[in-house]
Amino acid sequence: MENILFVASESTPFIKTGGLADVIGSLPQALKEHEQLEVRVILPLYDEIPEEWKEQMEYLTSIDVPFGWRNQEATIYTLRYHQIEYYFVENDYYFTRKGVYGYYDDGERFVFFAHAVIQFLANGYFKPDILHAHDWQAAIAVVLANIQKPLSDMRTVFTIHNIKYQGMMPIDIFEDFFNLDREHIGGLEWNGMLNCLKGALFHADKITTVSPTYAEEIKYPYYSEGLHPVLWQREQDVIGILNGIDTKEYNPLSDPYLSVNYRSARSKKIINRLDLGEELNFPMDLDKPLYVMVTRLTEQKGLHLVEHILEEFLQEEVQFIILGTGEKEFEDYFASLAYRYPEKARALLTFNEGLARKLYASADFFLMPSKFEPCGLAQLIALQYRTAPIVRETGGLKDTVQSYNEITGEGNGFSFTNYNAHDLLHAMRYALDIYHDPDHWQQLCSNFNGNRFSWKDSAKLYGQLYEQLVPTLIHG
Ligand code: GLC
Repeated sequence: MENILFVASESTPFIKTGGLADVIGSLPQALKEHEQLEVRVILPLYDEIPEEWKEQMEYLTSIDVPFGWRNQEATIYTLRYHQIEYYFVENDYYFTRKGVYGYYDDGERFVFFAHAVIQFLANGYFKPDILHAHDWQAAIAVVLANIQKPLSDMRTVFTIHNIKYQGMMPIDIFEDFFNLDREHIGGLEWNGMLNCLKGALFHADKITTVSPTYAEEIKYPYYSEGLHPVLWQREQDVIGILNGIDTKEYNPLSDPYLSVNYRSARSKKIINRLDLGEELNFPMDLDKPLYVMVTRLTEQKGLHLVEHILEEFLQEEVQFIILGTGEKEFEDYFASLAYRYPEKARALLTFNEGLARKLYASADFFLMPSKFEPCGLAQLIALQYRTAPIVRETGGLKDTVQSYNEITGEGNGFSFTNYNAHDLLHAMRYALDIYHDPDHWQQLCSNFNGNRFSWKDSAKLYGQLYEQLVPTLIHG
């Protein structure tokens, strides 16, 4: 057997809609480097994947995939990138479309993907000890691995990156999408629907999620999106392992997007800020601290709280810039606010990696008041760029940001507990006070030196988890 197969619906550098892609893009590398584990990754071959990658892919095989009452063909391509072997599952009907998600038949598309993965394994092209699937789009691979046993000794791990998305379908499609006895409906069913995520929670040997706090939170109704009873049942097998970030990629010392690279010097952050001001034609005022957000504009990110208090906060001597796209309600709100406060606020309603990096580098404070946040990547990048996060104490935000404590001098940011707009406002004002107190501000900034969110520690924990399932894996 040969270690691990990651099954997922997105991965950098090929295709990305969110933080999942960053994890799938960097964890295999970390497991190889720190734990000597061989991880391969299998993904759908979307039309959207840039040509430069498609040109490098090599044809491996065509397989017949049994799918309900019919067979569908899948063509498998391979590509080696940074010493990791990637497989891509091609099927024109399901994946040659614009974008990645958002189709009425997403359930069917990703159930097909899972069938193709299992058939690929059954045909013997790769024999992993462990199949490790991520989020609902890959969840059915765990279900089928456990029921159909394409490789008799293979074990399974399932990671929840976001429990909100579960992949639900009407129960009467069971026979159309699965070649399984009806007795298996029970494992997949939840509240009268077929639920991909629930299926994986029922069948996986081990379940992980992306921070210890989120692993706790999803046992309760406020965070579980209805699945807490299942998580209680599997409590012994659930563990939270914090994500890392790619510290080579997100490094202010070498980031090619910045006008000046730096390790920790505030003076160089200021040069970046002035250059960004010029680029945006925004009057950066060095007497006022800069608060930024880089985010998808969705409710999850706590934008209702921001909406409630931002105008009031702008009465202070501060500046604010937001970068991101998303729901129209929020785009309209930020556009109108920036229109009314041209000297203090700017809304960049687009996504652009270069601008994102410049904002991380230029800012003093990074706002992330999420309603829920399984792990969160942006606060970790902000810390790398010496920008203090202001976060709500939930999920990975709670595990990575400690509120500054004036008595002990400890802490790397600011935080508040309740999902309450005035608690956010209070945290933003407290941050402003600290900013204006030279001793505390210097202390806070020096605390950034102690941050370490590389993948090394997480890789170790995943390694230990895999070893529990396959004791011979690492030293065998
Ligand atoms: C999801 C979560 C985010 C997490 C990411 C990677 O996008 O919303 O909090 O960081 O997955 O695990």
